[in-house]
Amino acid sequence: MKIQIRPENKNDYKTISMVNDMAFGQKDEGILIERLRKNKKFIKELSLVACMGNEIIGHILFFPIKINSEKDSFDSLALAPMSVIPELQGLGIGSQLV
Ligand SMILES: CC(C)(COP(=O)(O)OP(=O)(O)OC[C@H]1O[C@@H](n2cnc3c(N)ncnc32)[C@H](O)[C@@H]1OP(=O)(O)O)[C@@H](O)C(=O)NCCC(=O)NCCS
Repeated sequence: MKIQIRPENKNDYKTISMVNDMAFGQKDEGILIERLRKNKKFIKELSLVACMGNEIIGHILFFPIKINSEKDSFDSLALAPMSVIPELQGLGIGSQLV
């Protein structure tokens, strides 16, 4: 099974929401991704799709966050959400996306 991983582009937005809706069985994550995309901190190169041929079958998003301790503040990335369509879960695609 040959999987290609690449950054998202504008043509992928609808399918990314659909893949997340299918993986999670509800629409919250698709809506979350659409909202994060509008945030000025969004890094489009860190929203990645997994493709089998021309079909998007998985997605992963890393979003910039700040971790604050009492003394320091650290820039980091949150991994969420990630999704693989139900019929292809458990085959290692999620690991490749990470
Ligand atoms: C989570 C998800 C993206 C993983 O993708 P995948 O292609 O099925 O994962 P892989 O086959 O690469 O498995 C990677 C590892 O994650 C583990 N794993 C897979 N799904 C998991 C889950 N829901 N909870 C905990 N561990 C999980 C596997 O057991 C495997 O562990 P191992 O390497 O020790 O055996 C996919 O199962 C999915 O879309 N689930 C529904 C959505 C979801 O729960 N997303 C995560 C929260 S944002």
